[in-house]
Amino acid sequence: MSAKPHLGAIQETLLIPLYGRANDARRKNSILHDTTAAEMVDSLDYDFDQHDTRNTTGSVWRASIFDQFVRDFLTDHPDGTVVDLGCGLSTRSDRLDNGTAHWIDLDVADSIALRRNFFDDSDRYTMIAGSIFDTEWYDRIPREQPTLLLSEAVLLYFPEDQVHSALRSISTAFPGAHLAFDTAGKAMFEAQDKTKVYDSLSARFHWQCDDPATLQQFGLRLTSSYSFGTPPPTVTRTWPALHRYGIKLVGRFPMSKSYRFTLFECTPAR
Ligand SMILES: C[S@@+](CC[C@H](N)C(=O)[O-])C[C@H]1O[C@@H](n2cnc3c(N)ncnc32)[C@H](O)[C@@H]1O
Repeated sequence: MSAKPHLGAIQETLLIPLYGRANDARRKNSILHDTTAAEMVDSLDYDFDQHDTRNTTGSVWRASIFDQFVRDFLTDHPDGTVVDLGCGLSTRSDRLDNGTAHWIDLDVADSIALRRNFFDDSDRYTMIAGSIFDTEWYDRIPREQPTLLLSEAVLLYFPEDQVHSALRSISTAFPGAHLAFDTAGKAMFEAQDKTKVYDSLSARFHWQCDDPATLQQFGLRLTSSYSFGTPPPTVTRTWPALHRYGIKLVGRFPMSKSYRFTLFECTPAR
């Protein structure tokens, strides 16, 4: 099979973390072992060489931190629901499935159309074409079991007002749910134009957030927050020694300090 991506500007960015996970899978010391990503890269009719993808390690580190949020959630709630808002071609539902969890992957229509080349719905796995900023999908999320909503490398691309109102709306709609997403502070935000991979992409970050704790005003309670310099210890242990030493260095840079991965609980005001 050879699927050709027809993607809008923000949607096209999904191919970069996919490529990162594929490269990681081909390494001897793979962190994620995402061999499905490698198969997808091989089967896509897409010129990955147009992008400067020499350094995609960050997307692998990021995915491993989000994986840990999901693992911790499923340890506490083995039959819970994990909702990925802006899933792209993530394989997390395959990689971390425990046999009892429910998985819902949402993305906009062109990304879901591409995704359907590789995945099928099942009794525990559902794909939804929709926007994180709409509310139609809210009714598709089962309420009987605990829920973890996550959104990885998505909200950064949208204006602050839009993000703030989505956070308020989600926290109101899903009281008690867990919500994980990434935020880019000033140094990360300003570095994007110096980041080589963005030379060939037109999408840009529009939301700068210097302190995820300030988002608690939208009905969120911060429960944990990490950066590349301060990842969860359980995650660091899965990284090869070279990465572990690298992270100590990388973690000193303002850019990596300001890129944060934060888990909240939805606690809307009554
Ligand atoms: C950088 S990619 C990240 C993909 C995936 N989360 C990952 O880490 O591999 C950005 C994703 O945001 C998705 N996206 C763009 N607009 C969106 C929207 N309004 N609602 C939900 N997802 C959106 C894109 O389709 C794309 O999959």
